[in-house]
Amino acid sequence: MGKLLSAILILCSMVISVPAIHGIAEDPKSVEKWLDNLTHSKQKLTKLHFYFHDIESGNSTTSIQIARAPNNNSTSTAAFGGINIFDNAMTVGPNITSKLLGRAQGLFAASSLGPQSLLITMNLFFTEGEFNGSTLAIVGGDPILDQYREMSVVGGSGEFRLARGIATAKTVANNPATNTAVLEFHVVVIHY
Ligand SMILES: *[C@@H]1O[C@H](CO)[C@@H](O)[C@H](O)[C@H]1NC(C)=O
Ligand SMILES: *[C@@H]1O[C@H](CO)[C@@H](O)[C@H](O)[C@H]1NC(C)=O
Ligand SMILES: *[C@@H]1O[C@H](CO)[C@@H](O)[C@H](O)[C@H]1NC(C)=O
Ligand SMILES: *[C@@H]1O[C@H](CO)[C@@H](O)[C@H](O)[C@H]1NC(C)=O
Ligand SMILES: *[C@@H]1O[C@H](CO)[C@@H](O)[C@H](O)[C@H]1NC(C)=O
Ligand SMILES: *[C@@H]1O[C@H](CO)[C@@H](O)[C@H](O)[C@H]1NC(C)=O
Repeated sequence: MGKLLSAILILCSMVISVPAIHGIAEDPKSVEKWLDNLTHSKQKLTKLHFYFHDIESGNSTTSIQIARAPNNNSTSTAAFGGINIFDNAMTVGPNITSKLLGRAQGLFAASSLGPQSLLITMNLFFTEGEFNGSTLAIVGGDPILDQYREMSVVGGSGEFRLARGIATAKTVANNPATNTAVLEFHVVVIHY
């Protein structure tokens, strides 16, 4: 690593344009500036509403089981130890053909020996409107037989930097024959 390489790197960083989401620069210096300025920023409350489509079979599968406990041969995704990875559509309405707001990408794991419950960890990638390019990180338990399941917004990026909040999920459709489920999400987010 010589001086020349450092010089080239500096030159490159000057030439390459700073990546930005809706004017929010994401390079380390800009992130520091943004944090330094926090005392002048006001907290905002944003309410989001969308439908989440978990499709586990068919031609447009967006959720697949990637692991299963060796002592459990159940094909049910609710079987203890089963883990799915998903890239599920988030839409305005309950119909998958309604307007796409973004993708929910993450994992769920059947983590309960008792009543069926999943551990969900996911990033919501928004692709529409004022939150286009911003993300929210969500972690929580999903006892799928309960009417409302509360999960935590633990952070975010872009417009949702330092986000905290509450996500509430409710199953509005569940079709074991086609392995699809639709969840309605209400998310209340505090951010800057
Ligand atoms: C600092 O915060 C104020 C108020 O929110 C805003 O108008 C200004 O653009 C911010 N400056 C920077 C560098 O982020
Ligand atoms: C799935 O894809 C196959 C092969 O392209 C096609 O024959 C079948 O009709 C498709 N099924 C559905 C439900 O779209
Ligand atoms: C699960 O299936 C595997 C492979 O078919 C088999 O070896 C194993 O004994 C089965 N386990 C149980 C608990 O049925
Ligand atoms: C696999 O998990 C399912 C769902 O929890 C359960 O009903 C079944 O008894 C389990 N099977 C084994 C072999 O542990
Ligand atoms: C979803 O919308 C499509 C066309 O936009 C329609 O054909 C279909 O019946 C709708 N599905 C439901 C469950 O309402
Ligand atoms: C969202 O942002 C991307 C990247 O900046 C852009 O290409 C796209 O057109 C935007 N979408 C909408 C609906 O504004």
